[in-house]
Amino acid sequence: MAVNLKRSSGTGASTEQIQRRRMLGWLTGLGLFGSGILSAVSNFVFIKPRATYGQPQRFSIGKPDDFPPGTRATLGARSLCVVREGNKIAALSTTCTHLGCIVGVSDTGFACPCHGSRFDQDGTVTGGPAPRPLPWYKLTLAPNGELEVDKDIEITPGSYLSL
Ligand code: FES
Repeated sequence: MAVNLKRSSGTGASTEQIQRRRMLGWLTGLGLFGSGILSAVSNFVFIKPRATYGQPQRFSIGKPDDFPPGTRATLGARSLCVVREGNKIAALSTTCTHLGCIVGVSDTGFACPCHGSRFDQDGTVTGGPAPRPLPWYKLTLAPNGELEVDKDIEITPGSYLSL
């Protein structure tokens, strides 16, 4: 008695099915590999800190004696001007409120070299395109006797620290 070992679909169709399965297996593996890579990259991007470490916004500028009465000293690296009148002292920003250029001290207050904004001694706009006065920053006397500026805290213009 002869036994028929052929499949009902024939030998050619069986080979096609095997090739199709292999190809689907490869595609599945490739998809899993790709999603694993994407997952690893997105996890890395998520975990990686995005903090930028710029200059600290609270810092010491020295002792009050470093700024004798009548001082209008610009601290270029800090974009500040320290103004002392008698026993009162304040820290004003020297960053122009128009487009951020650094203003210079002038006879009448401050002048911006970029587009000509002018500010009086208190930082009030007296001319040019600047939309706001120069900010005044919180200034405190630390326990070690040094003056500390906090550029994160703006105060009302004209609010001097009494020494
Ligand atoms: S940046 Fe100062 S006037 Fe434009």
